Amino acid sequence: MCGIVCYIGEKSAKQILIEGLKQLEYRGYDSAGIAVHNGDRIEYCKAVGKITELEAKLNGRKMEGHTGIGHTRWATHGEPTEINAHPHMDQEKKLFVIHNGIIENYYNLKKKLEKDGVVFVSDTDTEVLAHMIARYFDGDLNKAVRTVMSEVEGTFGIAVIHQDAPGEIVIARRGSPLVIGVSDNGYFAASDVSAMVRYTKKVVHLKDNELATLTRDGFAISTAQAKRVERDTETVEWSAGDTDLNGFPHFMLKEIFEQPSTIENAIRGRLEPGEGVPKLGGIMPVWEKLKSCRHIVIVACGTSYYAGYVGRYCFEKLTEVDVEIELASEFRYRKFNFPPNTFIIALSQSGETADTLAAIKEARRKGASLLGIVNVVGSSIARETDAGVYNHAGPEIGVASTKIFTSQLTILTLIALLIGRHQTLPLTEGTEAIREIMALPDRVQRILAQANHIQAVAEKYHKYPNWLFIGRKFNYPIAMEGALKLKEVSYIHAEGYAAGEMKHGPIALINPDMPTVAIAPKDDMYDKMVNNIQEIKSRKGPVIAIITEGDERLKKIADDVIEVPPSLDFLYPVLTVIPCQLLAYYCADFLKRDIDKPRNLAKSVTVE
Ligand code: M6R
Repeated sequence: MCGIVCYIGEKSAKQILIEGLKQLEYRGYDSAGIAVHNGDRIEYCKAVGKITELEAKLNGRKMEGHTGIGHTRWATHGEPTEINAHPHMDQEKKLFVIHNGIIENYYNLKKKLEKDGVVFVSDTDTEVLAHMIARYFDGDLNKAVRTVMSEVEGTFGIAVIHQDAPGEIVIARRGSPLVIGVSDNGYFAASDVSAMVRYTKKVVHLKDNELATLTRDGFAISTAQAKRVERDTETVEWSAGDTDLNGFPHFMLKEIFEQPSTIENAIRGRLEPGEGVPKLGGIMPVWEKLKSCRHIVIVACGTSYYAGYVGRYCFEKLTEVDVEIELASEFRYRKFNFPPNTFIIALSQSGETADTLAAIKEARRKGASLLGIVNVVGSSIARETDAGVYNHAGPEIGVASTKIFTSQLTILTLIALLIGRHQTLPLTEGTEAIREIMALPDRVQRILAQANHIQAVAEKYHKYPNWLFIGRKFNYPIAMEGALKLKEVSYIHAEGYAAGEMKHGPIALINPDMPTVAIAPKDDMYDKMVNNIQEIKSRKGPVIAIITEGDERLKKIADDVIEVPPSLDFLYPVLTVIPCQLLAYYCADFLKRDIDKPRNLAKSVTVE
């Protein structure tokens, strides 16, 4: 969603802001803008569309200055127009603010300001912040921001500069991430470390209801009650190269091909083959409670939700725990009766998904213990949970989540195996599981080696406007994830179904124009899947079957097959999802879609 980058230091701000905004492009946006303080006054520039449009408008403009703020906007209140783009400013054009999040009481605040004669120029909720902070400003920008924080409701990550406070940027957050970056030649602030990782890996995370003043000489963090906060810098693992394409045409393809190493990263140092038990240091703070836990609720959104769905089957297979899976966006509307010692597992790549955050806060209120499986270190969900496991998968830039999905599946399996081995799972099954988990990176590599074949299958089918994905048990969530992947990057309409549901409705859709991707590896659901495929073929529906290597039976029935190496049933999803990801990618490529930034989507959904 929206992105923030700020710089104050020895260097010229303009180019740093533009480079930072380019690193934030993957989050999804529809307009962008920057404002730079040149020592006397503030200059600004905004443009609708890509950062290149902003660069074109800036072409020839010097915009000198060492203090600046930049923003990419993903429209919520008001259309994506230049006037609605950030930064927003007060009537005198002295104060400039950029904002991620939503000001929920903006309407009432706006009415009050209008009564006092303030003329609004945009349709945004953000503009109220500009007018309010400007009104409270008496030379102390930090104090003015603090005062406004006490009056606004909703979520925000903001950065503010004022003409009469040169050499200062004030940032503040509530529910929307902000990170300070510390480098030898200046200080950064951004909604996402990728905006500054080229310049520094030393960061300090701002917590909710905190604000900070950045100057050329340092930064000072305080609470909304003006209490000084001391916090050490952390070093981020990501490097500048992680955000490069490295020869791939798109981040989505690069990230699909990174999966052997991201799965390796998810298991590195976490397996004890002889004992058949994983080692997960991150969950040790809650281990005494977790090992005897009998009830888990997994919460997540989108692709992370489907990973959680596979996780449910996995926990049921390996442990004695009852597991529920719930969409984080629906969690608050359910009435859960948590038995004692219930754990919530929140899955999130970004660690900032607003619905998932809200769900865990609600679960905490109801007395549950919280575990997080998160990729972004120091993110809000990582901080709000009692314990957890990081993916260590590096930044995921493509809006369509791929490498994090298989990493999440791997980590969920490790947690299930760890609990299972302390409950009733025998040693032989534990050691076998670990052996098979360790084989996953090579097996994924074997599937990736068939990319050309999968591309040819995509070429054959990419013009079909409607697709069906079916699977059972462990592969039912893969059917849903396969359909999501295809629709989000290619805009082809796709449905993911439990194959057992076919006769209850979807089979009515089957005809020669409706391809079905049938996920049918050789597990205990295989025979039933073969029956489903036969039923589709009897109605002349084209079938692309994802099968286990050497399955001659399905090779004869299906129109096209993609083979995956043999595996244990609960590990097949890590393999069967790879052909789905590649099919989605290549269909989108044939259809010339904007693969890494599909229309209307944002990488990190930080508003409800
Ligand atoms: O950062 P999160 O894992 O919490 O994000 C959840 C969803 O927004 C995300 O998986 C989304 O569905 C992706 N676009 C899927 O490719």
